[in-house]
Amino acid sequence: MILTHRPRRLRVNQAIRSLMRETNLSVNDFIYPIFVVEGEKIKREIPSIANNYHFSVDMLEAEIKEIVDMGIKAVLLFGVPDHKDAHGSEAYHENGIVQRAIREIKRVNKELLVITDVCMCQYTDHGHCGIIEDAYVNNDKSAEYIAKIALSHAKAGADMVAPSDMMDGRIGAIRELLDTNHYSEVSIMAYSAKYASAFYGPFRAAANSTPQFGDRKTYQMDPGNSDEALREVELDIAEGADLVMVKPALAYLDIVRRIKDTFNIPIVAYNVSGEYAMIKAAAEKGWVDEKAIVLEKLTSIKRAGADLIITYHSKDAAKWLRG
Ligand code: PBG
Repeated sequence: MILTHRPRRLRVNQAIRSLMRETNLSVNDFIYPIFVVEGEKIKREIPSIANNYHFSVDMLEAEIKEIVDMGIKAVLLFGVPDHKDAHGSEAYHENGIVQRAIREIKRVNKELLVITDVCMCQYTDHGHCGIIEDAYVNNDKSAEYIAKIALSHAKAGADMVAPSDMMDGRIGAIRELLDTNHYSEVSIMAYSAKYASAFYGPFRAAANSTPQFGDRKTYQMDPGNSDEALREVELDIAEGADLVMVKPALAYLDIVRRIKDTFNIPIVAYNVSGEYAMIKAAAEKGWVDEKAIVLEKLTSIKRAGADLIITYHSKDAAKWLRG
């Protein structure tokens, strides 16, 4: 054949493929989730999130040093408290599990970026992400508590707060409370398009945060919706979000791309626990090549338009990228 164009010419060897690669993964793209629990001397593998651990605060030092050595620049902190009540009071306690963990991480390493998940579901006895009134999550009261939690994280030394509750107006409420308390340098990563997803199952087992009645569909988004994600992102940007998030990642890459094409703001994709668990389970069975499939999916998330990826694969991927 005499062909004018032969796209394969740009794929003939590894060197040219490297030159032509449009999306490159880097350790700078990763945010690594860390779960902290009450107690001492605890480093316990999380059964539903294999190769990730529950740490007591006194066991964080070695882990943080390892993470920093691998080149990872940011962690996302989740607290798993012993004490739960109707208002999730442990979530904003000065000596709560997350607040102590933040101070410990900053003691070990000042440069590692500490991002905190700001939510109530692990801390409330009913397991919902806000304050319950008449069997319904009251929006405005919940937003008030969410802002209070964010402020307590900032006071403990968090660099960035990440509200995952999906209440209306909470980004504005957080920004205002942080600013009036002189924390204008603390940034906000908004879980803007967070879907009511079955992919969170392994996380809820790990964080003990399953709702005790009903579901999260009155605050998290319907998986069938896409235009609505743009409205959520627009509101969060208007209220002061510094970064916006899409969660989960893999089943919602079209949402990542629409946001990328519509707005000019850093986008974070959360490669959630169910997405992680599926690959781990298949790899364990020998059905997929774990390294290849993880690097492929992380690259796909970036190609879709994400600037950053929250992923339980962070440490493995950092190792593999280093070679
Ligand atoms: C808390 C929260 C959840 C996740 C992150 N923050 C669970 C939920 O909303 O039910 C899920 C993360 C994951 O599955 O990896 N609101």
